[in-house]
Amino acid sequence: MPYSPTPDLQTVVREIAEEMRARPDRGEVATYIPELARVDAGAFGLVVIDADGTVAAGGDADVAFSIQSISKVFTLTLALGMVGDRLWRRVGREPSGSPFNSIVQLERERGIPRNPFINAGAIAVTDVILSGHQPREALGEILRFMQFVAEDPSITIDEAVAASELRTGFRNMALANYMKSYGVIDNPVDFTLGVYFHHCAIAMTCRQLAMAGRFLAHSGRSPSTGYSVVSAERARRINAVMLTCGHYDGSGEFAYRVGLPGKSGVGGGILAVAPGRASIAVWSPGLDASGNSHLGRIALETLTKRLGWSIF
Ligand code: DON
Repeated sequence: MPYSPTPDLQTVVREIAEEMRARPDRGEVATYIPELARVDAGAFGLVVIDADGTVAAGGDADVAFSIQSISKVFTLTLALGMVGDRLWRRVGREPSGSPFNSIVQLERERGIPRNPFINAGAIAVTDVILSGHQPREALGEILRFMQFVAEDPSITIDEAVAASELRTGFRNMALANYMKSYGVIDNPVDFTLGVYFHHCAIAMTCRQLAMAGRFLAHSGRSPSTGYSVVSAERARRINAVMLTCGHYDGSGEFAYRVGLPGKSGVGGGILAVAPGRASIAVWSPGLDASGNSHLGRIALETLTKRLGWSIF
């Protein structure tokens, strides 16, 4: 058999970043949050951090972008830490097969969102984190958790993005009010949405995001600090929800092509987890029809193929 060396991680990451930068098909930047429409569609960043903490970075690895729905992985983690499995009384854990901002299932399912990653589900999870706190305290809790798992206290919220969504987020307002009518939202809708819009507006680089995902890749523990963020069982379960629901109605396609748990955001980021191996963050602002990063998905597909990292 011909000798085929394991490809060097940094070389693979750099090559993929170059290949993606050269592609003309970039998808469409989200415009329904006006502030996101201003982002350069030509940007591309990729960071892989392996079990030893080796960082392989390519392209715009250190440019901050709006993490949007990727924040929902971390709010899910926090809410499970606060109320444990009782969370699943408020929100399901089945794929929705519907767009991220769909309203149609909520009526049939009596205000209980299908999963914690569609907007309705994430708003319900944010409401759990908010309970018993002031919005500012809940938001501080979320931001500090992000800084803790990313091991970087400099992470902040992009206030312009949060304000932009506050002005235009009528669909989310409808979802929240509808859930409130079923008693699924405990707090004033404005408070819950305020916290939700702000945690979606957290700005992070690929490097910071890949750091933040490491506990999910390593059985709930940060390999660098040794801190246990969640139990191994919980990390496994969060990864399972990412695999089945992390890309909304594009989740099947993502699992088919990439073969890793992943969570996308309309800012064009994707956090992907290769269990036991690595945490991966990619960013390319142009989206596909499901609202997931077009080149981000292609880059991850290329990466898992070249490295043999699909979980299947
Ligand atoms: O609520 C929204 O619509 C946005 N703040 C987040 C949506 C999102 O990121 C969907 N992901 N691809």
